[in-house]
Amino acid sequence: MEEQRKVALVTAAAGAGIGLAIARQLAEDGFDVVVTDAHEKRCHDVAKKLTEKHDRPFLAIPLDVTDFDAVTKAMKQVVAHYKRIDVLVNNAGWNKIEPVSEMSQETWQRCLDVDLNGTFNCMRQALPHMIQQGSGSIVNISSIAAWETSTEHGAAYSAAKAGILALSRVAAAENGKYGIRVNAVAPGLIYNEFLRRIYPDEFFKGYAEQRSLVGRVGEPQDIANIVSFLASEKAGYITGEVYTVGGGVSPHS
Ligand SMILES: NC(=O)c1ccc[n+]([C@@H]2O[C@H](COP(=O)([O-])OP(=O)(O)OC[C@H]3O[C@@H](n4cnc5c(N)ncnc54)[C@H](O)[C@@H]3O)[C@@H](O)[C@H]2O)c1
Repeated sequence: MEEQRKVALVTAAAGAGIGLAIARQLAEDGFDVVVTDAHEKRCHDVAKKLTEKHDRPFLAIPLDVTDFDAVTKAMKQVVAHYKRIDVLVNNAGWNKIEPVSEMSQETWQRCLDVDLNGTFNCMRQALPHMIQQGSGSIVNISSIAAWETSTEHGAAYSAAKAGILALSRVAAAENGKYGIRVNAVAPGLIYNEFLRRIYPDEFFKGYAEQRSLVGRVGEPQDIANIVSFLASEKAGYITGEVYTVGGGVSPHS
């Protein structure tokens, strides 16, 4: 009998950047990737493309991570379908930069809801299944904004991304005994089509030449590579860690 593939759920997997690269990489690695995203159409499109590329079915579940009931339902659907969940990648993030003195309550609330509460919601619903099966790897996408003192990110985003680090570490401590590892990845600037529309080309050029220690900005694949590693058995001795992938701009200390 053919051995069952491992199952990975990726949130916000149908955007222009990191989530899509992670979904593609994990599919390449042999996982049954559950493609989830708040954008229903793109979510189905990505799963369809993966299905065509790999000639095996990929499940699409449109999912807004801020909706706890929807997350509960999605996780039940995954476990009913595959009877397991091996990897959870919490990639969904949202940001709006406003100084604290002018920040609206909506901005603060939305950022905490998507970035931090969304990560909690998915972990809360995946962990009981992982505990039951006695294995699992969770990778949470934070940011160098979690520790950088900078006006570039906005305080709500920085607070939410720092919260993800604390959440990851405590969850790692609680769940190691069940064979579950929890790690965080903190990207620096990662180029994508969406950001290209917001920032002028000179911004990326300046960042690459003056700030990055490797002469370039990041690509979504740079993050997909480390997620691929952390999701795999090769990372079996690694938990509770934060991996900075940011061209040396702001190493974690
Ligand atoms: N791009 C960067 O420079 C950078 C740097 C550091 C950290 N990050 C983090 O990496 C992650 C991915 O960022 P990205 O810029 O590559 O974007 P991305 O393309 O991976 O994600 C965008 C997608 O997120 C989806 N989304 C938004 N809100 C959602 C919600 N509530 N529920 C589910 N899906 C939702 C959108 O529909 C869109 O498809 C985010 O957590 C972000 O904060 C990005």
